[in-house]
Amino acid sequence: MMARRMASTKLSVPKRVLGRRVAGLFRPYAMWMLVLVGVLSLGVVLDLRAVLVLGSMVDGMSSGTTLGALDGLIVLYVAMVLGSALLGVGESWVNQLIAQGVMHRLRSDLHDHLQRLSLRFYSSTRTGEILSRISTDVNGVQDALSGTFTDFLTNALTLIVAFVFMFRLDWRLALATLVVLPLWVYPTMRVGTRLRDLRRAWHEETARMSAHLEETLSVSGSMLVKTFGRQEHEAGRFGASNDALRDLSIKRLMTGRWFNMATTLFGALLPGLVYWFGGRAVLGGTLSVGTVVSFALLSQRVFGPFAGIARINTTLLSSLAVFERIFEYLDMPVEVEERPNAVRLTQSRGEVEFDHVSFSYQSHATHPIEAIDDVSFHIEAGQMVALVGPSGAGKTTVTYLMQRYYDPQRGIVRLDGHDLRDLTLDSISATIGTVMQETHLFHSSLADNIRYGRLDGTDAEVHAAAVAAGLAGLIERLPDGLETTVGERGYRLSGGEKQRVAIARAILKDPPVLILDEATSSLDSRLEREIREATAVLARGRTTIVIAHRLSTVMAADQILVFDRGEIVERGRHAELLARDGLYAALYGEQFSDEARGMTGVAVR
Ligand SMILES: Nc1ncnc2c1ncn2[C@@H]1O[C@H](COP(=O)(O)OP(=O)(O)OP(=O)(O)O)[C@@H](O)[C@H]1O
Ligand SMILES: [Mg+2]
Repeated sequence: MMARRMASTKLSVPKRVLGRRVAGLFRPYAMWMLVLVGVLSLGVVLDLRAVLVLGSMVDGMSSGTTLGALDGLIVLYVAMVLGSALLGVGESWVNQLIAQGVMHRLRSDLHDHLQRLSLRFYSSTRTGEILSRISTDVNGVQDALSGTFTDFLTNALTLIVAFVFMFRLDWRLALATLVVLPLWVYPTMRVGTRLRDLRRAWHEETARMSAHLEETLSVSGSMLVKTFGRQEHEAGRFGASNDALRDLSIKRLMTGRWFNMATTLFGALLPGLVYWFGGRAVLGGTLSVGTVVSFALLSQRVFGPFAGIARINTTLLSSLAVFERIFEYLDMPVEVEERPNAVRLTQSRGEVEFDHVSFSYQSHATHPIEAIDDVSFHIEAGQMVALVGPSGAGKTTVTYLMQRYYDPQRGIVRLDGHDLRDLTLDSISATIGTVMQETHLFHSSLADNIRYGRLDGTDAEVHAAAVAAGLAGLIERLPDGLETTVGERGYRLSGGEKQRVAIARAILKDPPVLILDEATSSLDSRLEREIREATAVLARGRTTIVIAHRLSTVMAADQILVFDRGEIVERGRHAELLARDGLYAALYGEQFSDEARGMTGVAVR
């Protein structure tokens, strides 16, 4: 299992293609990249040159120089070290400027692109994963920049400058160092690869654990666990993740530890060898003590960068992988796209037509199951149409197609005679308003939530819409009235109250076409009546499509469309359909007859 997980990074796009695209992202910062190179080079040169000053100080000591000369050297040394440190700060600044600029652009590109993706994407991707791409992966760009570009540059410059200095000091010693260094390369590369694989496995396990936590520690998840008494089962699942995480962490830290030990050892041995080898030359009178000291210090600086460069392929691959994951989302085709010459529909009449429409959620399957199969109907402006049918018949899907959440595979959906695909997306959403069973509330005030229906609605209009939707009682009860925060972590509204917020949104929006999904659950009769009254007010004077669960609705409908397995099997008015004694009559027997008895009771009284 471990072996499978630790397979090395595979890119699905050729490295060169990906690299070119990444380079494109950094092109606007070409000037800043040059500045970065300049700052880096100067910093490296100053830093290493300071080492030579130390050597001069040692030589001065052994040859009995003047105090003044020693003072001069320390001033020079401090200036160089300080200069190099300041350049380091400048380098970080430029680095961040570039990285954060690129990240800013990627984040907004991702956000805009994800918003244009169809509902299919959201219903097939876990929320956690989408969030992690926008946050974790985009943040990885910063590491990718400093881990590859900046580090590589620093390492290469350090190596070059240090070896230039070393060869100038003593070419034999320099040559010896150059021969020893590659011995260091192989273990470094091995450890680097292993560390990277362990880190990836650790990230995957962590992601799995958070996904698990997100599922079980949410309100609905925790209720599910409690209802079925699955605490132990969940503890077991969590325990397995937790164990794996512990083992991976120990392995990862110990691999790092051994590597560090080897580095420390090598770092400690190297100056000893230089002093021993160079010391012979000093005794022979061919080298100065200061030269050997400078050399020892320089040699300690080179093996880190050398190892870094040896690992560049691994680092580059994992950095490219970060970009690949981001590009994967950016390249996801936008299914529902506005045509360049799309028509803007102002003041729609509200005439809706389905013309031999077929649709399947599995657009790419070889044998897709049709959720909607060759459906045709025509709704005149101002009509009220009821959609009825058994569960899974395709009623909700019809309303999705009407709003162009998806495009049908065959056939045309028309609004005022225009193919939806020829209209701007704006005009579709401006024309159609919905009140669905599940109402999403944002974590914000009740007023803001209602105002989402029309952002420029005044306070008075929002209040009027709330009252018309039957929310007056609720507003009185809430601690801060309309200004009370609702939604996630706010005041929790009941199902019926949420639906009335949706009604208020629709009242405020005042759309020519209204789609309503009536509540299936039996609300208490007073609430039910209130919602019915509110929706009746709302439906007046506009085209209304209702997924009907109430007798009063179907009886009032101008047209009833009876769906079964994605097809319209019957259509007509209530009385005609009852007389036909088909599916509608059967549904009526199951769904509406209790209500019918209740209504006759009311009628008698
Ligand atoms: N996102 C989806 N992906 C795949 N299949 C889906 C998706 N949403 C719905 N379906 C399938 O499409 C068919 C029609 O579903 P739809 O939600 O339109 O039914 P419905 O008539 O609204 O049912 P209900 O009365 O229970 O709400 C069902 O078989 C359903 O399983
Ligand atoms: Mg439905």
